[in-house]
Amino acid sequence: MLRGRATADATTAYASRFGNLQGNFRTMLGISASSIGIGTYLGEPDTETDAAYEAALSTALGGGINLVDTAVNYRFQRSERTIGKVLAAMTAAGTIKREEIIVATKGGYLTFDGEVPADPRGWFEEHFVRTGIVTAGDLVEGSHCMTPKWLGTMLEMSRANLGLETIDIYYIHNPETQLSEVSRGVFLSRIRSAFEMLEAAVADGKIGVYGIATWNGLRAEATERGFLSLDELWRVAHEVAGDAHHFRAIQLPYNLAMPEAVTRSNQTVGNQKGSALTVASAMGLGVCASATLLQGRLAKGLPTILAETFPGLTSDAQRSIQFVRSTPGINVALVGMKSAEHVRDALAAAAARPPASVEELMKLYRPADERR
Ligand SMILES: NC(=O)c1ccc[n+]([C@@H]2O[C@H](COP(=O)([O-])OP(=O)(O)OC[C@H]3O[C@@H](n4cnc5c(N)ncnc54)[C@H](OP(=O)(O)O)[C@@H]3O)[C@@H](O)[C@H]2O)c1
Repeated sequence: MLRGRATADATTAYASRFGNLQGNFRTMLGISASSIGIGTYLGEPDTETDAAYEAALSTALGGGINLVDTAVNYRFQRSERTIGKVLAAMTAAGTIKREEIIVATKGGYLTFDGEVPADPRGWFEEHFVRTGIVTAGDLVEGSHCMTPKWLGTMLEMSRANLGLETIDIYYIHNPETQLSEVSRGVFLSRIRSAFEMLEAAVADGKIGVYGIATWNGLRAEATERGFLSLDELWRVAHEVAGDAHHFRAIQLPYNLAMPEAVTRSNQTVGNQKGSALTVASAMGLGVCASATLLQGRLAKGLPTILAETFPGLTSDAQRSIQFVRSTPGINVALVGMKSAEHVRDALAAAAARPPASVEELMKLYRPADERR
């Protein structure tokens, strides 16, 4: 297992090697994080896709992307294992140091072991039910669990897959899933138990900080059943561990077609209402945007206003990435890339332009004749 975790000194040294990527590195949680992170969600659970991710990850880590995002269930643990393989090879070769890279993963969903077994139900019974790791009442929608026992098991699995003693950011994966079946009171008591377990994992050096990675939870209206309140979660963390709690990071979808993190005033802090990004910023949370390209659908066919707003970029994928990484309050735009060519395209965008200013971004919202 690789020891250590991302540090301020090492990530700053990493950033200094990429002077060509102006404005690419910003401070998140006290360390230098690249404005583009590589995601590892999509793709088949097969060796061909493993090899593609291996090449993409090497290109990313060698080219100025120092945040990797994954989850234990992505491609049934294959994404984590591929990341572990690349980290081991690149640190052994001296191309990168462990402390230069921020690794984030998630637990919450059930996962198989590399492939779908012949008898999925029987496999699950044998590995997780008979072993006492999960009981029927713990499961929501037949696939989601966030008991301390489950998260603890998933965390150990992730550490082994990634070959890391310490995972920098550990997220509970889509915790809002629980709200489809349990009351908010039960949900908050489950969150509390999970946060207690995660604080213990921090104390044991198994994770650096923890948080929530969401899909609908932080974008929903406050009246919706699956809504997640940052203020409520922050208070639970505070009750569990006081001012020094480690609930420090969120992940939520944000892109040209899913702008709610900015446009929806659904969160509160004190007496103030604000968007998820405003409130997360006020709390000092690290914020990673997922689905920067809406799973590839924003990589082509964008209206010409995007090319006008972001000159100097050559593809719609680059323009979509530029939009997300330039949005105030977003630390890292996560782009799923299993193609090294796509990694080079993202890095070319970062080399061509620093993140856009707010004034440039605002052009998107002005009538055509006022844009110049
Ligand atoms: N709830 C959650 O926690 C959650 C949900 C969704 C996503 N995420 C995280 O966020 C990451 C990003 O989201 P995502 O992977 O779902 O979707 P995404 O980043 O919006 O899109 C990924 C897709 O875009 C393609 N692509 C990437 N760069 C491109 C380029 N330069 N030109 C053309 N196509 C390009 C990729 O192709 P190739 O793969 O072939 O390169 C892939 O098919 C995920 O990988 C995951 O780590 C988290």
